[in-house]
This record gives sequence, C-alpha cells and structure tokens, in this order.
Amino acid sequence: MRIFSTIAEMRAASRAVRNANRRLGLVPTMGALHEGHLSLVRTAKSSCDAVTASIFVNPTQFGPTEDLAKYPRSFERDREMLEREGVDFLFAPTVEEMYPSGATTWVTVEELSSKLDGRSRPGHFRGVATVVAKLFHIVEPEVAFFGQKDAAQVAVIRRMVRDLNLPVEIQVCPIAREADGLAMSSRNAYLSADQRKQALVLHRSLAQVEKLIQAGEHKAQKLIEAGQKEFGRVDSNAAPEASVRLDYFEIVSPETLDPVEDVSNGALIAVAAYVGTTRLIDNILFSKP
Ligand code: PAJ
Repeated sequence: MRIFSTIAEMRAASRAVRNANRRLGLVPTMGALHEGHLSLVRTAKSSCDAVTASIFVNPTQFGPTEDLAKYPRSFERDREMLEREGVDFLFAPTVEEMYPSGATTWVTVEELSSKLDGRSRPGHFRGVATVVAKLFHIVEPEVAFFGQKDAAQVAVIRRMVRDLNLPVEIQVCPIAREADGLAMSSRNAYLSADQRKQALVLHRSLAQVEKLIQAGEHKAQKLIEAGQKEFGRVDSNAAPEASVRLDYFEIVSPETLDPVEDVSNGALIAVAAYVGTTRLIDNILFSKP
C-alpha cells in the first residue's frame, strides 16, 4: 500500500490508474476504523481494480462545541488494517494540505443540510459536502463508497453529485452492527460499560418499529410514537452518566429527508440520541415493496 500525504502525489497515482483504464474506487473515512469501514473497503475491492482509502479528520464538519480535539485517532492501527485488506493507496493529508490558509469556498447543499443531523449540528453537512467534493476532485474516483449508517450524509452527497454533475458513482453499503445490534461507530469508543448497555435503545426502538410495520402499521405518526416510547422506558439501575436523551426519531423520504405520513411507499426511519455526552445515530431503510 502506498501512503500519500500530499494532493500532488495522490493525483499522480490516481491519474496513472485512470490512464491504464482501470476502475478506481474511493472509501473516504475519518479513521478510527472498525468493521463498518472495512465492509466498505471490501465492497470496493470486489468491484474496482484499485482502491484508495482516505483518512482525514475533517475539522470543518465539527461544530465549535463538538469532539474534534478528542476524536479517536489511531493511524498506525488503521494503516495496518487497510494494508491487510489490500488497499492500494492511502491518502492521509494534513489539515494545512486540505485547507490552505485563506480558503473561503464552501459547498452547501441547501435545505437537506438543515434536516435530521443537520438540524442539531449546524454547519456539519457544509463541512462534509465541501471535503467530499475536494476528495472527489483530488482522487477522481470512478466510484465512491459510503455507509447507510449515515443516511442523511448519503442524501446530501447524492444531491451534491447530481446538482454539480460530478462524474462519480455513489455506492451505499449496509450498516455493520455489533452482535447485539449496536451500529458500529468510531464514537462507540467513548462509551463506558454502562453507556454501552444504554446505547442499545437506539437499535431497540428501530426493531420495535420494524415489528409494527411487519404487523401492518404503516402510519408514520403511530410508528414514531412507538419508537419514542422505547426511550421513555428508563433503566433505573443505570448510572447518571449513562442517561439517554433522544435527539430525533423521524420517518422521512430517504431522498428529501422530509417527513412522510405513511411508510407504504418506502421510508427512512432514523434516530439520534445522546448517551451521556456521546451522540449516536442509527436507521432502517424501507424500500418500496
Ligand atoms: P466516518 O465516520 O469515518 O465514516 C466513513 C464511512 O464509513 C462513512 O461512509 C460511514 O457511513 C461509513 N460507516 C461508518 N460506520 C458504519 C457502519 N456501522 N456500517 C457501515 N458503514 C459505516 O462519514 C465520515 O467518516 C465523514 O463524514 C466523511 C464522509 C469521511 C467526510 O469527512
């Protein structure tokens, strides 16, 4: 695996792949890799001739009170994991390389960026769209891989690609979960043993709603109430630091992120909650029958 920290080196390597008419795939990450990230890498490996992974903790997608400084960083471990998966190129630029001083240009996907996570994290999707657009221009992949775990991010990136005619195919991979259902996330590393147990309420609320849908309940309002109710069943034995606060439980169109009244024509059921101070998200996607 070749490792690049400069845009010039990365560009030269990806140009060579494209000039040889080989299909190049990109898996963008912020590092602290887990099986979710690796599932993206494996999908990329299976359908591309060459795979680039990027590791960049993108400062512009963190709010001023968020966890940029303490975001987990484990470059050596990540490097070994990617090497083992047979990744061809690892792009790991510095903040200065990606954002030279005086950079003032942003990619803003309006409306979508203030829905779901964008509502609780103002500016987050502007940072995501900007860095992903930059990565697409630097790496020039034929296809880029994203996780369904971040469903709103998928909607924002798909819209950006469409609106700006970016010549990149977007492929979305299913959510990788722990054995007990918890969606894998780099932020799970923040959780204490007690918080880890409490965190299961996200998956439990989605599973409950899924069960109701299968039993024939298709009205979003009823389903939302059932999902929210799971958050009301507090565990009285949990430590105070493991308290759970629901951020949102919504049923929306996966493309527009606008609420839907009925799930019969397909819907994204998405949840976000704080466990202690850690913000976690999860979702299930119902496609049209
Ligand atoms: P990060 O949180 O590191 O995630 C990188 C990619 O892995 C994203 O596409 C995310 O959806 C996917 N992913 C994370 N957990 C997953 C899981 N449990 N199952 C499947 N896929 C999962 O998302 C970002 O980084 C950043 O916003 C980025 C796109 C890199 C831009 O900075």
